[in-house]
Amino acid sequence: MAGAVLAPPFVPIRRLGIGTWPMRGAACQAAVESALALGYRHVDTAEMYGNEAEIGAALAAAGVPRDEIMLATKVWWDKLRGDAIRRACEASLKRLRQPHADLYLIHWPSPDLDLPEALRALARIQADGLARHVGVANFPAGMMHRAVESGIVRLACVQVEHHVFLSQQRLRDFVTPLGIALTSYTPVAKGVVAQAPVVGRIAAKHGATPAQVALAWLLAMPGVAAIPKSASPVRQQENLAALDIRLDAEDLAALSALPKDRRMVNPGHAPDWDA
Ligand SMILES: NC(=O)c1ccc[n+]([C@@H]2O[C@H](COP(=O)([O-])OP(=O)(O)OC[C@H]3O[C@@H](n4cnc5c(N)ncnc54)[C@H](OP(=O)(O)O)[C@@H]3O)[C@@H](O)[C@H]2O)c1
Repeated sequence: MAGAVLAPPFVPIRRLGIGTWPMRGAACQAAVESALALGYRHVDTAEMYGNEAEIGAALAAAGVPRDEIMLATKVWWDKLRGDAIRRACEASLKRLRQPHADLYLIHWPSPDLDLPEALRALARIQADGLARHVGVANFPAGMMHRAVESGIVRLACVQVEHHVFLSQQRLRDFVTPLGIALTSYTPVAKGVVAQAPVVGRIAAKHGATPAQVALAWLLAMPGVAAIPKSASPVRQQENLAALDIRLDAEDLAALSALPKDRRMVNPGHAPDWDA
């Protein structure tokens, strides 16, 4: 295994980002401008979201120094062979009006994924300056092991569904000691966290909202980031303020004890999650 892949420091992933799926068009641009004005400095998109041009426009309009922002985009799983990743990355950057992304991710492993080939393509993208860091999304723990053990490229991040109703303990146990960030998508479980009475009780105790408690539970984990999507400036502000909420050990234990079997994003092309 290449030494450079082991025990690197965490890439400084900004821990609370704005998710942008399924926002499109002017509404997406307005939401991202609002998020940037409120202080978000991590924006998550993907070629598949069909909103990179609007995000590029929002970045241009916001007037925030570019080096303050962590911009993540992703390549769809039908473009992981040959030089298709490279071409997809260049097309994303053109739509985003950016010379580079801060994080470029494989969005999903394809059923016929040639892992070394895809990782070599990410390595070249990074070496050529199209992405400051590269990573993957929707990789189960076993596939993540194989990717890291290949030593082909230093993966900065793995992005997966992760919330109070779905554990990523196995993956986290592997990546956190390696300094690989885990970005939690669907972090407020699409807004239904209030359905669990314990979340409401902890929220009342802290004068917080259920969504803030759900985010604070994730953010209490070392190396974990969260990218809630909200089109509403009020809920964007609410989610950002979760960074200031400190849950105690009893709160964290109660949230950790909730059943963790509710996967909300599981399309037909998803991998075997136990692989
Ligand atoms: N890599 C992947 O395969 C993948 C898959 C899914 C998602 N993602 C990324 O992760 C981001 C977030 O995931 P997600 O959109 O599936 O789920 P989410 O962020 O957990 O939930 C978004 C939903 O919750 C609502 N919401 C947000 N904040 C709230 C709050 N404080 N109180 C009540 N409701 C709230 C939003 O409505 P309003 O907009 O009306 O506030 C929206 O309907 C996506 O936008 C995308 O960037 C990545």
